[in-house]
Amino acid sequence: METKVIKIDRNNIKKEEFAEAGEILRNGGLVAFPTETVYGLGGDGLNPNASKKIYAAKGRPSDNPLIIHIADADDIRKLAVNIPETAWKLAEKFWPGPMTMILNKADIVPKETTGGLDTVAIRLPSDEIARNLIRESRCFIAAPSANSSGRPSPTKAEHVIEDLSGKIDMIIDGGSCDIGLESSIIDLSGEKPLILRPGFITREDFDAVTAGVEYDRAVIAKTPEKNVVAKAPGMKYRHYAPKGNITIVEGEPRNVAEYINRCVSESESKGVRTAVICSDENRDRYKCENVYDLGSRKHELDITSHLFDVLRQLDSDEISVIFAESFDELRLSQAIMNRLRKAAGYNTIRV
Ligand code: TXA
Ligand code: MG
Repeated sequence: METKVIKIDRNNIKKEEFAEAGEILRNGGLVAFPTETVYGLGGDGLNPNASKKIYAAKGRPSDNPLIIHIADADDIRKLAVNIPETAWKLAEKFWPGPMTMILNKADIVPKETTGGLDTVAIRLPSDEIARNLIRESRCFIAAPSANSSGRPSPTKAEHVIEDLSGKIDMIIDGGSCDIGLESSIIDLSGEKPLILRPGFITREDFDAVTAGVEYDRAVIAKTPEKNVVAKAPGMKYRHYAPKGNITIVEGEPRNVAEYINRCVSESESKGVRTAVICSDENRDRYKCENVYDLGSRKHELDITSHLFDVLRQLDSDEISVIFAESFDELRLSQAIMNRLRKAAGYNTIRV
């Protein structure tokens, strides 16, 4: 299949630009598109065949449910039943934006889309390209991240092209994603609101709207705990990991740099391609041929928006051994460290 790539300028959007993409979606085809978090691989969420195609294109296990994207908050009435008051409060505060809510599904949502579950994940993105696409297609768009299963989520059209070219109908190139980490997922289908995936909206943010919100233990654990299985099916899969071996090094910046420099010199002396992932603040402390600077800790969106791109670069640069700083103290630490720990297979050392 030939994949058509079109560019859309988010500062100068014309409705006509979405006509072809909308038609593809209505006919059961697949279109990748940007959102404020990561690129999504969209298909008609109410069409079981479109959902099957999404799983096939990504190579994704079919028990891992998709998120349905809407353009109007009221549409949760069509997709969900027994909607609690909290859902409306959260929608009012955080939509449009990087929040996904899990609710009890309505009958029109096919089990192919929800991975066989009786609940449905719903998100109203803030990205103007995404919202225009949803409106113009007149579909509720099921969209997982537009990467091959197991790879880091795509934050640029180039990443989507790398993974899915030839497997889907169209890719809309809208440039880089602002946040670069997937949405926060909050489960409202149980007794207590539970965060199944940490993202840009933190527990403290949720707590300010509705008290008693907790993180699913499995997603903030520093080491995988026995018998604790993540409640979002997707969070249990191996994810984000580059081919090289990452070690996260925690501690005072000076000690961290000293430790990492020692390891780097040992590794490089054996001819092993070695890299460091760090922030602007500590960049100059490192003596290593390959330093990947995520940006300043004072601009957390720089860190989040560069992380997945760097994880992909490590593979294209054929790096085998990687040392990463920790980002424990940031507002978005749970979101960042959740991804970094997974990428590192929970391999962490404190110095
Ligand atoms: O930011 C995002 O959420 C991006 C953009 C494209 O919107 N989408 C995204 O989708 O990250 P995906 O499929 O890569 O991740 C969806 C996560 C998976 O971990 C999945 O298991 C979980 O949401 N999920 C979906 N429906 C669920 C449900 N009914 N119950 C529990 N977890 C669910
Ligand atoms: Mg994903």
